Amino acid sequence: MKKIQLLDKKFKLYIPFSEIEKNISVVAQQLNRDFADEPCPLFICTLDGAFMFTANLLQKLKLNCEVSFVKVSSYQGTRSSGEIREILGLNTTVKGRSVIILEDIVDSGLTIEFLDKLIKKQQPKQVKVCTMLFKPETYRKNIPIDYTAMCIPNDFIVGFGLDYNQLGRQLKDIYVLEK
Ligand code: IMP
Ligand code: MG
Repeated sequence: MKKIQLLDKKFKLYIPFSEIEKNISVVAQQLNRDFADEPCPLFICTLDGAFMFTANLLQKLKLNCEVSFVKVSSYQGTRSSGEIREILGLNTTVKGRSVIILEDIVDSGLTIEFLDKLIKKQQPKQVKVCTMLFKPETYRKNIPIDYTAMCIPNDFIVGFGLDYNQLGRQLKDIYVLEK
């Protein structure tokens, strides 16, 4: 079993790239079907974590679409700080458009709630949430998670965009913290 160390923590292989990509392909098919008749849906990548998911997913879309970026932060180490900070704002016109928020992982739902509110202020036609990973056990909000590539238990993971204190984002596979 492949193992890695990041700072003080040990992680072991959890989801290999082949499986990640298989699950992203399923979501891509759903989006291709659901947005086929939309003139130009807007995908919003939540930085930093969703950059790899966004790239991999968008390569699989057969839609005429646009991509934009927002940067928010809540996590410190292996825990959410409970507070969201907007570091890079949205600079694209949202009014009247179909918007799909792309997240690396939905945990408590604080980030997604913050972004949903932020985007809805600009009167979009609709807002959908699309996440690579979802932790249903820890989700505390009522916003529907419309598209999920993979559900996981309440474990701390790194890789494929996800970090531990900014490390591990570049890893092609996903690793879980060893207990
Ligand atoms: P939420 O606001 O509690 O839903 O947390 C969402 C954000 O926390 C994600 O966008 C990630 O950046 C981070 N996060 C949540 N769980 C993990 C994890 O297991 N590993 C790394 N980052 C995580
Ligand atoms: Mg993070």
